[in-house]
Amino acid sequence: MSTTLSGVQARTAVAARQLVKVYGKGETAVRALDGVSVDFAAGQFTAIMGPSGSGKSTLMHCLAGLDTVDAGSVHIGQVELTSQSDKGLTKLRRDRIGFIFQSFNLLPTLTAEQNILLGLQLAGRRPDPEWLDTVVSVTGLAQRLGHKPNELSGGQQQRVACARALVAKPDVVFADEPTGNLDSRSGAEVLGFLRTSVRELGQTVIMVTHDPVAASYADRVVLLADGRLAGEIHQPTADSVLAAMKNLGA
Ligand SMILES: Nc1ncnc2c1ncn2[C@@H]1O[C@H](COP(=O)(O)OP(=O)(O)OP(=O)(O)O)[C@@H](O)[C@H]1O
Ligand SMILES: [Mg+2]
Repeated sequence: MSTTLSGVQARTAVAARQLVKVYGKGETAVRALDGVSVDFAAGQFTAIMGPSGSGKSTLMHCLAGLDTVDAGSVHIGQVELTSQSDKGLTKLRRDRIGFIFQSFNLLPTLTAEQNILLGLQLAGRRPDPEWLDTVVSVTGLAQRLGHKPNELSGGQQQRVACARALVAKPDVVFADEPTGNLDSRSGAEVLGFLRTSVRELGQTVIMVTHDPVAASYADRVVLLADGRLAGEIHQPTADSVLAAMKNLGA
């Protein structure tokens, strides 16, 4: 089941139209997303920023099919996510979307390599050996494949999570505060790697962050305030992002 969205360019990886998400009912209802329309270009690294409570995580969850919307639509490529059944959504998430979370979410009893390949295995798919080599070498994990998560640094664990997200060649990788649990050096490593995956592998990455330095690795920053779009910055620097955030009262 897929519909074509008019006005979306072929190179748009993810398109949201008039997204509304309301939590709760009556007087205590919160409009976490209040009519958000935004496109994310394929092969670009976009950061989503905004004050606490502005709707960043809600937007990411709705874009990635981890949460339902009350109105509006999300397209991943030409496929409409918002009209999928639960089964269709599970398949779409498995085949076309990669996730990186703040807490690395690796299985402790598996080696780095087994963790990287787990998703493909569960989907009954074989890894493309050449692509696996590329991903392992770009993430700098070649010497670490036999190690369990507790034998790896936080930065290395997050690079395993990045490799796991990339190995299935997803249309888009969503990252929610991927450096939130890392020291600044490991954080810079992971951000540098995400940057490389966009530049050299053509990956599309959408990252939620509250850190202007992290956002400066992106090609574009989308700003949210009170569940609405509040501007965007192209070729951001930490300073330009910080200034924009101050303007939003963050
Ligand atoms: N499950 C929920 N039930 C009720 N309200 C919620 C729920 N999840 C989020 N909200 C509310 O929706 C709004 C947006 O929340 P969201 O988590 O998307 O913000 P955020 O920008 O990610 O914030 P932070 O930077 O603190 O992570 C907030 O007012 C929040 O309290
Ligand atoms: Mg959040």
